[in-house]
Amino acid sequence: MTPSTTTFLLLPLLFLHHAAAATAPSPSAAAATSPTLSPPSSSTSSSSTLDPKQVRALQSLYIPTTHDPCTQPSFHNATVCDTATPFRHLLSLRLTNCSDDLSLSTTALSSLSTLTSLTFLDCHVPIVHFPNSLSTNLRSFTSINSLKRLTGVFLRRFSNLTELAISGDTIKASGIHIITSNMNSLNTVTLSNTNLSGLIPKHWNPKLTHMDFSNNKLNGTIPTSLTLLEDLKFLNLSSNQLSGEIPTTFGNLISLQNLSLSSNSLSGSIPGSISTISRLVHLDLGSNQLNGTIPRSISDMKGLKYLNLEKNNFHGVMPFNASFIKRLAVFKIGGNDNMCYNHSSISKKVKLRIAPCDKHGRPILSSPAADEPSSSVDDMSSGDYDDGGGDDGKKKNGDNGDHGPNKVVLGVAIGLCFSDYLLGYVI
Ligand SMILES: *[C@@H]1O[C@H](CO)[C@@H](O)[C@H](O)[C@H]1NC(C)=O
Ligand SMILES: *[C@@H]1O[C@H](CO)[C@@H](O)[C@H](O)[C@H]1NC(C)=O
Ligand SMILES: *[C@@H]1O[C@H](CO)[C@@H](O)[C@H](O)[C@H]1NC(C)=O
Ligand SMILES: *[C@@H]1O[C@H](CO)[C@@H](O)[C@H](O)[C@H]1NC(C)=O
Ligand SMILES: *[C@@H]1O[C@H](CO)[C@@H](O)[C@H](O)[C@H]1NC(C)=O
Ligand SMILES: *[C@@H]1O[C@H](CO)[C@@H](O)[C@H](O)[C@H]1NC(C)=O
Ligand SMILES: *[C@@H]1O[C@H](CO)[C@@H](O)[C@H](O)[C@H]1NC(C)=O
Ligand SMILES: *[C@@H]1O[C@H](CO)[C@@H](O)[C@H](O)[C@H]1NC(C)=O
Ligand SMILES: *[C@@H]1O[C@H](CO)[C@@H](O)[C@H](O)[C@H]1NC(C)=O
Ligand SMILES: *[C@@H]1O[C@H](CO)[C@@H](O)[C@H](O)[C@H]1NC(C)=O
Repeated sequence: MTPSTTTFLLLPLLFLHHAAAATAPSPSAAAATSPTLSPPSSSTSSSSTLDPKQVRALQSLYIPTTHDPCTQPSFHNATVCDTATPFRHLLSLRLTNCSDDLSLSTTALSSLSTLTSLTFLDCHVPIVHFPNSLSTNLRSFTSINSLKRLTGVFLRRFSNLTELAISGDTIKASGIHIITSNMNSLNTVTLSNTNLSGLIPKHWNPKLTHMDFSNNKLNGTIPTSLTLLEDLKFLNLSSNQLSGEIPTTFGNLISLQNLSLSSNSLSGSIPGSISTISRLVHLDLGSNQLNGTIPRSISDMKGLKYLNLEKNNFHGVMPFNASFIKRLAVFKIGGNDNMCYNHSSISKKVKLRIAPCDKHGRPILSSPAADEPSSSVDDMSSGDYDDGGGDDGKKKNGDNGDHGPNKVVLGVAIGLCFSDYLLGYVI
């Protein structure tokens, strides 16, 4: 079954033809999204340029092979091949929306050890043993709402990964270090929504650009050594149980663009060095126990588009003026009961959900319902301000999702008479 020379001369033409046809929805695209439609057949399609062993492996995974998976990749490039002759080999494979009766087999995976990239997306299958050849060949491994029974011991064998992304799948491991400690080439790492606990490891590839450990049960402090990652563009540690202070050397993260440390138990003040990170567009420190005053230098950050400092313990006069706030797409400062804004420089129409200052720079503890008629119109276009009346603002401040209905009702009742300052202590 050696393909003739003519076949190879025709290949580029075939590819062009298929590429043109791919712009219209084709039966093959439909087949790729519903894998069960493909009847596993033992005979190799005569037109396939893919290694017959790999064709059989794909069939066992319900990937349609009626069209050549190399020259006519199914929906959204589920398969990508190399250009070897006489047979091509798979470099990349993505399994999406797998059928319930799909199971991985070590035999099939052995045939697929040429893969450098493997992705599971909404593909709920239990893991099986991955042969060594595949484990060390992989550069990119992704499982989003997919693999069942993932463990640290399973993942740590992918030692040559540059990209690891697990999201929405529980990982059984005593900590992240079990998984990543020997992945010395890792550039991007996402372990989000995986129920991981333990500490954030101190040692990383200095070239790391992306770290997302959001929505886990990580505790301990943010290691100061993280601030050595000069190429880090994206850092999301939100929704964990991190405590302690934000390292004062945070400003060393000169490449950082998006930062979220929200919904942890971080304390102390915002390190002033953070405002030297010139490329930062997204800064989310909301829902922590940060205190002190907010560094005025943050208002010098020209690129900032998203700023969330809500639900902390900041005090003093809010250092931002109206033109700075207007430039932001999202600005949240509410739920800082000891903080106030200077009403001679910021209109009361800008709903900040903090109190105006008295002449000593302390919050005026009066009912916002009396100060601010509920008919006042939100004059900011971004829509991230409190757009209701004072009562509504109180309710939102009181209800941060952790409180039962009784406390919300209590919060509203108290909020009508007193300030959030008191409310904070009642709850
Ligand atoms: C997976 O299935 C969902 C819902 O059935 C559909 O919206 C989505 O486009 C599918 N994704 C792919 C890549 O086939
Ligand atoms: C498929 O792969 C080709 C070549 O690698 C790339 O140009 C194209 O954007 C990819 N298409 C999709 C939908 O990923
Ligand atoms: C992958 O990692 C192993 C050790 O885990 C190493 O021996 C090998 O050289 C690396 N590179 C490739 C291409 O497999
Ligand atoms: C999440 O981790 C905790 C231990 O930290 C464990 O008791 C619990 O069973 C885990 N939950 C899931 C869904 O794996
Ligand atoms: C961080 O992760 C959380 C939860 O996964 C998500 O809601 C949030 O948008 C992320 N923040 C950034 C800056 O990407
Ligand atoms: C982190 O949590 C574990 C239990 O999950 C606990 O034993 C440990 O003391 C905690 N560490 C810190 C620094 O809070
Ligand atoms: C970074 O933040 C900006 C501004 O909030 C947002 O538009 C963008 O999607 C974020 N990037 C990533 C990778 O989350
Ligand atoms: C802020 O909190 C830290 C630790 O929680 C505490 O030591 C410090 O005194 C507080 N500072 C202010 C100004 O409240
Ligand atoms: C508002 O703050 C910005 C940044 O600190 C400053 O450049 C600008 O002059 C201020 N505008 C007014 C009207 O005070
Ligand atoms: C509020 O701003 C005005 C004018 O910009 C200034 O004179 C006053 O001292 C400020 N008040 C406070 C409490 O900072």
